Amino acid sequence: MKVTIVRDYNELSSKTAQLIIEQIINKKNSVLGLATGSTPNGMYKELIRLNQEGKVDFSEVITFNLDEYYGLSPEHPQSYHFFMWDSFFKHINIKKENVHLLNGITENIAKECKQYEALIQKSGGIDLQVLGIGNNGHIGFNEPDISLNGRTHLVNLTAKTIRANSRFFNNAREVPKQAITMGIGTIMQAKKIFYWLTAKEKPGLLKEQ
Ligand code: GLP
Repeated sequence: MKVTIVRDYNELSSKTAQLIIEQIINKKNSVLGLATGSTPNGMYKELIRLNQEGKVDFSEVITFNLDEYYGLSPEHPQSYHFFMWDSFFKHINIKKENVHLLNGITENIAKECKQYEALIQKSGGIDLQVLGIGNNGHIGFNEPDISLNGRTHLVNLTAKTIRANSRFFNNAREVPKQAITMGIGTIMQAKKIFYWLTAKEKPGLLKEQ
């Protein structure tokens, strides 16, 4: 494991964007695992800028997002589907058919999860997975006590996660109680992973590293 300490958020955003660019330069049809939350915003902005300047080409890139709230439609402004299109995909030259997001309003959760896993396998597996970490240590929406072998599945969100994520909603009651997430087993199959931890927001987690 390689640890890089950065000075500030700008450096975090440009360094992580650079890791993605290097991956795409090495393999133009790279399969990226992408994350949401507030930390990736700067990295997505930097990637948009570099794409618009012609320094990175997403035309053959394939993406799979980590997770989605269960019960939110793709059009819901707080769905991860909406977030990803609004803050990243619509600004770059990625093909719509190469973008994969879990369907938060699926009527068949088991089928949705199985299909997602199958699509990841069919694409050759994730080359580079981007991970954030929730303030209780959750990864994707895998809460800390979850099985390390799990695949994409439905999870119940803990009260702490609901409280933390209520900052994106009008209040905690609006936050869905469940989500669909890649499992730790799915994530660990990625060929490379990077994750960030911001000292200011998560000092407790940093001490545990
Ligand atoms: C959400 C996402 C996680 C993400 C977390 C932290 O809960 N499901 O994948 O890691 O937010 O986000 P932030 O970057 O805002 O700290």
